[in-house]
Amino acid sequence: MSKTIQQLLKSSNKIDPLDAELLLAHTLGKPREFVLAHLDETIYNIHIIKYKILIKKRVKGIPLAYLTGHKEFFGLDFFVNKNVLIPRPDTEVLVEEAVHEIKRLSAQDGSASGVKDYEITLVDIGTGSGCIPISILKTSKHQNIKTFAIDISKQALRVAKKNAKKHGVEIKFLHGNLLSPFINLIPKPPKTYNLVITANLPYLTNKQFADEPSIHHEPKLALIAKDQGLALYEELLEQLANLSTYKLACFFEIDPDQSKPVTKLIKKHLPEAKVEIKKDLAGLDRVVIIKN
Ligand SMILES: C[S@@+](CC[C@H](N)C(=O)[O-])C[C@H]1O[C@@H](n2cnc3c(N)ncnc32)[C@H](O)[C@@H]1O
Repeated sequence: MSKTIQQLLKSSNKIDPLDAELLLAHTLGKPREFVLAHLDETIYNIHIIKYKILIKKRVKGIPLAYLTGHKEFFGLDFFVNKNVLIPRPDTEVLVEEAVHEIKRLSAQDGSASGVKDYEITLVDIGTGSGCIPISILKTSKHQNIKTFAIDISKQALRVAKKNAKKHGVEIKFLHGNLLSPFINLIPKPPKTYNLVITANLPYLTNKQFADEPSIHHEPKLALIAKDQGLALYEELLEQLANLSTYKLACFFEIDPDQSKPVTKLIKKHLPEAKVEIKKDLAGLDRVVIIKN
């Protein structure tokens, strides 16, 4: 059995044409451009079978990124599998804001005295594929950011470690609930000690999850939280309240409907903190910035 690339693509009319091109490129181990430039090339049995299996899975709704094992985020390529959330473009806003803050902090780094007064530690909570801290480290010019990434899922940490290795960044991965595994490792504060905390924690309600079939193949553990989706952020705020002697800059991704309730929770647990909300690309409230 043999077919041309064009014939194969035409026969895949149950899925989006772009997805078909990307799945065929993945099957052939080539970039999409190759597929588009070789429409008359003949494809043989083994590849046709592999491709058709992928098409069937895509028709069933399995996300493209899980089928190819890759997703681009912040201009970088990340390994993904069914144990991690597929990185979303909305999360890039959080990365941009954290990078901006790190730049601001590094500009202060020993500027007046020539002595290194400021230390920056980055902690990403609920790291999943590791896309947030890896993108921050790849983008920040600042070389000495001690970085930790935490997840409650050991399978997710395996993916994140693979991504850190691929991108050549140094991150200490910790397994456990929210900030707990990091608390014991916290160094005693020097003159000024900056903790930059990023978190894209599960924030959907059961109903939001049930109403959105496109996310049903992603891990529930990565998406749903109790108390209107805010249970994990509240628990994290309780933990942060014990760290108020450090200089904190926290960046949390939220659902647009949560900006008011989350601000209320912040005021309850960190009454002195300044709160700012940033919008995503669609103009919806998406990132909460907390500074003490
Ligand atoms: C929404 S996903 C975000 C993944 C990744 N940071 C991103 O932005 O693509 C949430 C992640 O939080 C992890 N998680 C859920 N509950 C947690 C908890 N109590 N402590 C630490 N991580 C948790 C999940 O395993 C999942 O990897």
